[in-house]
Amino acid sequence: MIELKAISKNYTHNKQTFHALSDVHLSIQDGEILGILGYSGAGKSTLVRIINGLIEPTHGTVTIDGYVLDMQKQKAIDRMRHSIGMIFQHFNLVHAMTVYDNIKLPLDIAKYPSDKETRILELLDLVGLTDKKNMYPKSLSGGERQRVGIARALANHPKVLLCDEATSALDQKTSNDILNLLKIIHEKTKVTIVFITHQIEVVKALCDRVVVMDGGRIVEDTPIKELFVNPKSEVSKSLLQAFKYETTEPHVYELVYNHKNSDDTILSDCIKQFHIDVNIKYAKTLELKSETIGFLYVQFFGKQTDEAIAYLRAHQVEVNPYAI
Ligand SMILES: Nc1ncnc2c1ncn2[C@@H]1O[C@H](COP(=O)(O)OP(=O)(O)O)[C@@H](O)[C@H]1O
Ligand SMILES: [Mg+2]
Repeated sequence: MIELKAISKNYTHNKQTFHALSDVHLSIQDGEILGILGYSGAGKSTLVRIINGLIEPTHGTVTIDGYVLDMQKQKAIDRMRHSIGMIFQHFNLVHAMTVYDNIKLPLDIAKYPSDKETRILELLDLVGLTDKKNMYPKSLSGGERQRVGIARALANHPKVLLCDEATSALDQKTSNDILNLLKIIHEKTKVTIVFITHQIEVVKALCDRVVVMDGGRIVEDTPIKELFVNPKSEVSKSLLQAFKYETTEPHVYELVYNHKNSDDTILSDCIKQFHIDVNIKYAKTLELKSETIGFLYVQFFGKQTDEAIAYLRAHQVEVNPYAI
C-alpha cells in the first residue's frame, strides 16, 4: 500500500512561490486500478514524480508498504524504485537499442537474479511483440512502442505500475488496445495500476476508483460509477459535459439504472400505477470496466410525478432532476 500524507510541493522562481501541490492525502490499495484525473497543470505529474521518488515533497510523507520514503537514504529510494514500474506518454525508449535490449535494460540494472532470457521472452509474449524483438523503436508504431514501454516497466515484477498519460499520444483504437492490454496484465498479475490522465474516457474503461485533481489539490476521490452518476467537483462536471445530454427544457429527469435492474419493467409499472405520461428525450449507455450503466432522460407529466419518482428510487433507479 502507498500512503501520501499532507503532501505539498512548492516551486520558487524570482522569490515567487508557486504551490504545485497542496495538502494531498491519498491511499493507494494493493491491486487496485486508480485513475488520477485532471486538466493540464493540475499537478498530476508532480504527484506521480513524488510517488516514484523523482522529486522530493516540500512537506509531507510518502509511505510504501509501511516504510516511510526517506529521500536522503539511497537504500530506501532503491527499494522503492524496485517496487514501482513506470510508463510515459512519449514511451522514453532507448532508440539505439532493439526491443529485446530495451526490455533487458532494467533487468541488467537490477542484476536480475534468475534467467534473463526467459523473463524477456515471457514479457515479449505478454505484450504481443515476440516477432518484433530484433527491431528498433523507430520502425515500430506508437502502440508497439508503448507495449515495449509496458514490458520494460514490468520486467522486475513491480508491485505498482505508474502510467503518466500513457495513451495520450495514441489514436483512439490504439489507445483502446493498450487499455485492454493493461486490463489483461492486471488480471494476470494483480499489479497495482495508477493511471494519470486528462481523458475521462480512459478512466471510464480502466479504473475502479478515481481521484480528481485541480490546482494542486485532490477535489474528489470516488468509485468510478459515482464519478459518472454523481460528480461532485466542478472539474468532474466539466469533464463530463461531453457525456451528458444538453437541454433547457423543463420537467426533465435523468434516470440512472444498471444491468441489475435493466430487465425489469419498472418504468412501465410506474406509468400504469401513477398515471403519468413519460416523454423520452434521450438515452445512452456507458460501459464501465465492470458494469454497464444506462442513462435515460425523460420528461414526466402528471399529478403523481413525485410518487412515481419515489417508486423508481425505491427500485434502485436513481432519479436526478435535470438542468444543465
Ligand atoms: N520544475 C518545475 N518548476 C516550476 N513549476 C513547475 C515545475 N514542474 C511543474 N511545475 C508547475 O506545476 C504545475 C503542475 O504541473 P504538472 O504536475 O506537470 O501538472 P499536470 O501533470 O497535471 O499537467 C504546473 O503549473 C507546472 O507549470
Ligand atoms: Mg502531466
